[in-house]
Amino acid sequence: MKLPTIVLIITVLSTGTVHAATLDQLLQEYRAAGAGPFSAAAGAALWTREGGAQTCATCHNTDLRTVGKHAKTGKAIDPMAPSVNPKRITDDYFIEKWFRRNCESAWGRACTAQEKGDILTYIRTQ
Ligand code: HEC
Repeated sequence: MKLPTIVLIITVLSTGTVHAATLDQLLQEYRAAGAGPFSAAAGAALWTREGGAQTCATCHNTDLRTVGKHAKTGKAIDPMAPSVNPKRITDDYFIEKWFRRNCESAWGRACTAQEKGDILTYIRTQ
């Protein structure tokens, strides 16, 4: 077996997925797109920013350690804070998919790389 194959197998076994990039890799991608530096304070401000149809806190609450509630369906949303929900912000595909949907429903547009970096930097501190 060639070394890259062995490395890939070990990666799959240890993470359960092939594609999932770490949060740091995702932030690095945003930097490569010209964004940064990122700040948790800026992310916190974006989280409750008014002016769109909804804020991020409408569904996810201002205290990220609490169970959220979907504004339309009423369904419970697991806490966003990694400190109480370690599964949070661990899968780049999942993160980007929900950024696409949520930025659209809250602000009526896509989030920029800067906003995503700030928000993820904020979430990871919670
Ligand atoms: C209408 C309700 C709603 C609003 C408003 C909303 N979200 Fe979400 N969000 C969800 C749902 C539902 C999920 C997917 C279910 C889950 O992750 O528990 C989700 C998931 C996410 C995830 C993925 C988390 C992870 O574990 O990777 C991120 C990041 C996120 N939202 C960020 C935001 C941001 C930033 C805003 C504000 C711009 C926002 N959300 C506004 C409902 C919402």
